[in-house]
Amino acid sequence: MSASAFLNAATRQQHDDRVPVWFMRQAGRSLPEYREVRAGTSMLESCHDPALVCEITMQPVRRHDVDAAIFFSDIMVPLQPAGVAVDIVAGRGPVIAEPIRDAAGVDRLRSVTEDDFADIAEAAGLVVAELAGYADDKPLIGFAGAPFTLASYLIEGGPSKDYARTKSLMVGDPQLWHRLCERLAQISTTFLSAQVHAGARAVQLFDSWAGSLPLADYQEFVQPHSAAVLAALGELDVPRIHFGVGTGELLLAMGQAGADVVGVDWRIPLAEANRRLGGAYVLQGNLDPALLGAPWPVLAERVRAVIRSGAAAPAHIFNLGHGVPPTADPDVLGRIVELVHTEGPALRAEAREGRP
Ligand code: CP3
Repeated sequence: MSASAFLNAATRQQHDDRVPVWFMRQAGRSLPEYREVRAGTSMLESCHDPALVCEITMQPVRRHDVDAAIFFSDIMVPLQPAGVAVDIVAGRGPVIAEPIRDAAGVDRLRSVTEDDFADIAEAAGLVVAELAGYADDKPLIGFAGAPFTLASYLIEGGPSKDYARTKSLMVGDPQLWHRLCERLAQISTTFLSAQVHAGARAVQLFDSWAGSLPLADYQEFVQPHSAAVLAALGELDVPRIHFGVGTGELLLAMGQAGADVVGVDWRIPLAEANRRLGGAYVLQGNLDPALLGAPWPVLAERVRAVIRSGAAAPAHIFNLGHGVPPTADPDVLGRIVELVHTEGPALRAEAREGRP
């Protein structure tokens, strides 16, 4: 057993039913101190400045007493050394100068090595050193985008609602699709390995947009590539979180891709997610981020409901069902952390006693 409540839950050793909590996108525009240090520096420039990355990663840890830090970067960052010209436009998202739509495009994508991520490793090292100063053990979580989600940006050229070009290429030219995803799996694996070698003690693979796929297509075209990434990280002996939005129908397939922890969005209760997963996975989630503006007593009840429902799973890490919205009030996040820490153990114990 580790001294970290987060790692204990991630490895199914939730101690005294303590409920760890962190938030996807906990570092970001909801924090005034983030807006201040980011002023005048573009998103991607920021990601290559180790001191700034460390500062931004630590901001929510200092403010909220969350149980883990998530490395400040972006899923598009590892595509840059692979030769992709990408920009991240505020309020819109990633924009790709030359979208990949044919074999020549796929062949332009270079493989990467951990040496390409020297600044990332330096930044992660700074974070780990600062985390060591905390009385309780707060690990750093590394992350990467999964091949499908990365492919969707590369093929569409930017954010998309229907992923029409992505899906058409996927079913229309499976050979090219698989070649693209193999390259993306190599890139994501290397980006994650660099973070782990620099001290990250868990990883999250974001397949944010996989929920747009039917199960059969997910299994045929996506799961093998995410499985390759997760298997490689398994060799490094870190717990692996696998997350996507709207993935109620895909949960078991995402677990079977090689996850230790399955991230669940807000559309189904955690107890139902646990049922769909056969009780075999630790769960992470799943407060609806759109409720953060609701009156506190109502929101607090929703937080309690998430904890009670999560008690059905072998272990539970509290989180939102997706990222913190830029409009969120940071004080509300702080109150949620406090509630999860103070009431979480009793709520879990009660919920577990009530179960046959
Ligand atoms: O969770 C964290 O605190 C770590 C930081 C993090 C960022 N991006 C910082 C960021 C993480 C884990 C990501 C991953 C990421 N990036 C995903 C997967 C997670 C998810 O949300 O599903 C995706 C799809 C992206 C691509 C991306 N980057 C989008 C859609 C956007 C939003 C564009 C916008 O302006 O709304 C970004 C930019 C981005 N990445 C910001 C942050 C803090 C905002 C940019 C800014 O502050 O100027």
